[in-house]
Amino acid sequence: MEGKKEEDEKGVEKEAELRLPDGTTVKLPVLVDAAGQTFVDVRHLQTATGICTFDPGFSSTASCQSKITYIDGQKGVLLYRGYPIEQLAKQCSFAEVAYLLQYGELPTVERSMEFQEKLTYETMVHEHLIRFYQGFKPDAHPMAILVGVVGALSSFYENTGNIHDPLQRERACTKMIAKMPTIAAIAYKTAKGQPIMYPRNDLSLVENFLYMMFAVPSEEFLIDPVKARALEIILILHMDHEQNASTSTVRGAGSSQANPFACIASGIAALWGPAHGGANEAVLSMLEEIETVDAIPEFLFKVKNKIGSRRLMGFGHRVYKTWDPRAEIMKETCDQVLRKLDRNDPLLDIAQALEQIALNDEYFKSRNLYPNVDFYSGITLRALGIPRSMFTVLFAVARTVGWVAQWREMACERTRICRPRQMYMGEMRRKVPQDIFPEQQWPVEDESTVLRAKSPGLNPAPSRLLGRTVSVKWNPNQHV
Ligand code: CMC
Repeated sequence: MEGKKEEDEKGVEKEAELRLPDGTTVKLPVLVDAAGQTFVDVRHLQTATGICTFDPGFSSTASCQSKITYIDGQKGVLLYRGYPIEQLAKQCSFAEVAYLLQYGELPTVERSMEFQEKLTYETMVHEHLIRFYQGFKPDAHPMAILVGVVGALSSFYENTGNIHDPLQRERACTKMIAKMPTIAAIAYKTAKGQPIMYPRNDLSLVENFLYMMFAVPSEEFLIDPVKARALEIILILHMDHEQNASTSTVRGAGSSQANPFACIASGIAALWGPAHGGANEAVLSMLEEIETVDAIPEFLFKVKNKIGSRRLMGFGHRVYKTWDPRAEIMKETCDQVLRKLDRNDPLLDIAQALEQIALNDEYFKSRNLYPNVDFYSGITLRALGIPRSMFTVLFAVARTVGWVAQWREMACERTRICRPRQMYMGEMRRKVPQDIFPEQQWPVEDESTVLRAKSPGLNPAPSRLLGRTVSVKWNPNQHV
């Protein structure tokens, strides 16, 4: 493909020329984004030429235009609406950054208070929703609970499902951001077998989350300001990260005009994996498995030789080819928390030694693998007393703000349904052998079989089966 510049009276217009296998060429528009990054617009390539691009994992493909988050992976830059993450994490609250991501500007003091109040009065969940939790096994992973419960929200809140109505969109977004900490905390209380703590309107969203997680009705609960601030920073760092796997999933689901709560549930599912939001949990397991600083070389040998598909969890990123700026703030926050809470964590010694060895190792250097946000977040969350199974849940609580902002941006535009092409590598047309699989005849009405369950006292209504006789035996010991 050759880049080409053509000037007309209006200014400089760029086009790229693609030479096709048959020798013909096609001109493709070239777009440039706000950061000066060039994109070849292949939107009409398939309809114009019948040819598709191939980009599994979408490393070279922009799926949308967005004004929310900017990452420069080479320089380690992350901006929310143009503001550096370092400044937002140090100077702003959860509600202020959430407002920024939703509405594009940092709030004034009045707007911030209004927004905080709007969120506060949406933190409770429908009482019937709480009954959902009783259906899960006590040892269910809180992420499993979260996926199910958030999907179910779509059936609870009327006047939120019409994505073409700005008021309904606003309602859905506010409810999602405000209720997520409550939903997450109830998941934890359910797993602990403790009574649910209802949100309190005199607390901020972050304080409320700590209260709902750790308070019990039988005694007074004091919120530790160090813990609350550390948690706030962690949440701000995780709020948005442009078109990552879970955000793309939310946008993908949203492109079919699905219910907004269902779209967020799809994002939670995508976040769960250890390659994405599950990495913070995986980092701690890895550090525990390494056990001592002396065992690091042996562990890294396995990683570098890909024995058992091992990876150094908390290292590497699709976009960052240098330090993840969030990782630096996370490391600083981790140090502060351990110092202020006067905690000593042997896993921190292993993490620090592991980081130094990996950063000086040719395998990691040559692949530009640096610590990402999750390398130190697990140790910090542990120091805050957050149980490991809740790490990814916390990530989801934070990322909900970004998912909602991205969903809203997409819903405001005329978006085409997400429908990638594929490179088909399977069998081409072949015939089902007639001798083994003869053509099925349509059954006639009186050949239908009545199916009766053999359970005592049960005699279900007759059902028609396609000409087959089925006998069902009732087994009182059968697993359900
Ligand atoms: N440990 C060891 N090798 C790695 C790692 C790692 N953590 N990450 C990448 N590599 C190697 C990989 O094996 C491959 O090597 P080779 O060229 O010899 O085959 C090369 O680096 C390129 O890897 P890739 O899989 O093509 O890279 P990717 O951009 O598709 O993957 C990643 C990005 C984040 C999934 C990956 O780096 C990874 O699995 N990291 C560990 C999991 C982790 O920490 N995830 C959290 C990401 S940050 C939180 C978030 O935003 O979700």
